[in-house]
Amino acid sequence: MGRSFQVVILGGGTAAGYAALEFVKNDYNHGDLCIISEESVAPYERPALSKGFLLPEGAARLPSFHTCVGTGNERQLTKWYKDHGIELILDTRVVAADVKGHTLRTSSQETIAFRTLIIATGARVLRLEEFGITGSVAPNICYLRSVQDANKLVEAMAACKSIGGSAVVIGGGYIGMECAAALIGNRIPVTMVFPESHISEYFTVPQLSVKLDWGSVARLFTPEIAAFYEQYYEKRGVTFKKGTVMSGFERNDQGKVEAVVLKDGSRLPADLVVVGVGIRPNVSLFEGQLTLEKGGIKVNGKMQTSNSSVYAVGDVVSFPLRMYGEMRKLEHVDHARKSAAHAVQAILCPEKIEDYNYMPYFYSRVFTLSWQFFGDNVGSCIHYGVQSSGKFGAYWINKGKLVGAFLEGGSKDEYAALARVARDRPEVPDVNLLEDQGLGFAMAH
Ligand code: FDA
Ligand code: NAD
Repeated sequence: MGRSFQVVILGGGTAAGYAALEFVKNDYNHGDLCIISEESVAPYERPALSKGFLLPEGAARLPSFHTCVGTGNERQLTKWYKDHGIELILDTRVVAADVKGHTLRTSSQETIAFRTLIIATGARVLRLEEFGITGSVAPNICYLRSVQDANKLVEAMAACKSIGGSAVVIGGGYIGMECAAALIGNRIPVTMVFPESHISEYFTVPQLSVKLDWGSVARLFTPEIAAFYEQYYEKRGVTFKKGTVMSGFERNDQGKVEAVVLKDGSRLPADLVVVGVGIRPNVSLFEGQLTLEKGGIKVNGKMQTSNSSVYAVGDVVSFPLRMYGEMRKLEHVDHARKSAAHAVQAILCPEKIEDYNYMPYFYSRVFTLSWQFFGDNVGSCIHYGVQSSGKFGAYWINKGKLVGAFLEGGSKDEYAALARVARDRPEVPDVNLLEDQGLGFAMAH
């Protein structure tokens, strides 16, 4: 026999922490809520792991980035959950789910019953083995998803630094860009390897006979935007190997990687390898029980799955993006936080809640740079501003309307203006005028 709860949140990441906060804000009964997480710490904000956590000095460490610190709320330490009567079951993997029977089975063979389930299992990293490359387990090969991975990366960076070594970063997306910047910050020279023509490129079809992860494309740089960051990276010691992928590793007698071999035949010496080649939503427990779409668990505007007692939030869902009238998967914290709060409202006040009406928002920080993006990157793109000034941006125009806005180096007010235009989607009668007005267009809106 096991325990039983009104609501069980499965997963202990960003979305789980924000769902718990929303229950607490609404005075949910002590003892009715439980969170089950395979991690050994309370929910935290993953963005810190590829930024502050990797700083050479004054690095961020838990508990400084437990969930909700980011938005100025009370820090949610383990004690916070206890004080609010939430059962936080850590170090526990759920190995089976019976949706119709309303039970979960854990790795410790406990059966936990729920009346309502919130799935917040997030995503797992894609491993090189899934691209046909064997042997990506080594002390100096690092992936990055959890604080455990980040601890391994910090240790591997220290070992690399101690021998004056160099690193290879596989993948030119978010993890690749942020980790390459962090490695340079630690005085480790970096070569980045990726199949596209540019870093964080939105869309190209490389002529490579390798299966790529196009399933979760959220990258948005145009060649013009990418050029700025590439020059900036190169000036700080990053070398790019574009348009190719790796084909294998060379190792020493202790199993440590010494070099990365590329498909184009070249060989890159490496004392440390960081891999960021995309993610897959953790849906396997629910395959055959809930409807899936685009690789995620399909939810409606109330974040409710094909079983009305089961909700899903964060990276794991495909949800209706009302603004654009289509189903999307989004793998960023803002959506994790907001979808979690929305699901809780839908559970607590089903008669009052409207459909989730989300506007996509992403950001990144590398070196001393920082950008934000709002809306959708479809249609044609116009660029504005002078890149050498450190402040420049882009607008996306689709069917005569401004639908997306990007800005590097903006202020709080400027980003707020971008959010406004992307939400309002004003008509753009004259694209040339928009280009001339640049940021002024959003500020005047
Ligand atoms: P998340 O992955 O956070 O949590 C899932 C939880 O479920 C984990 O605790 C996992 O262990 C647990 N779990 C899964 N299966 C389980 C099972 N069977 N049993 C028990 N537990 C299980 N976004 C952004 O907007 N800006 C940024 O700067 C960054 N930066 C960033 C850096 C790094 C290093 C990463 C990895 C990610 C980002 N992101 C980001 C993305 C952002 O962190 C991500 O979108 C959210 O963490 C998603 O939150 P979820 O709660 O959905 O999943
Ligand atoms: P990503 O999808 O951003 O980038 C993956 C990269 O790997 C791409 O350049 C892709 O072409 C490349 N790639 C794919 N297959 C490859 C192969 N065989 N060899 C070499 N390169 C290959 O994924 P990511 O960078 O791994 O990030 C993982 C997740 O973390 C994403 O969901 C992302 O949204 C999230 N994240 C977000 C932020 C942010 O929002 N600032 C920061 C870090 C991580």
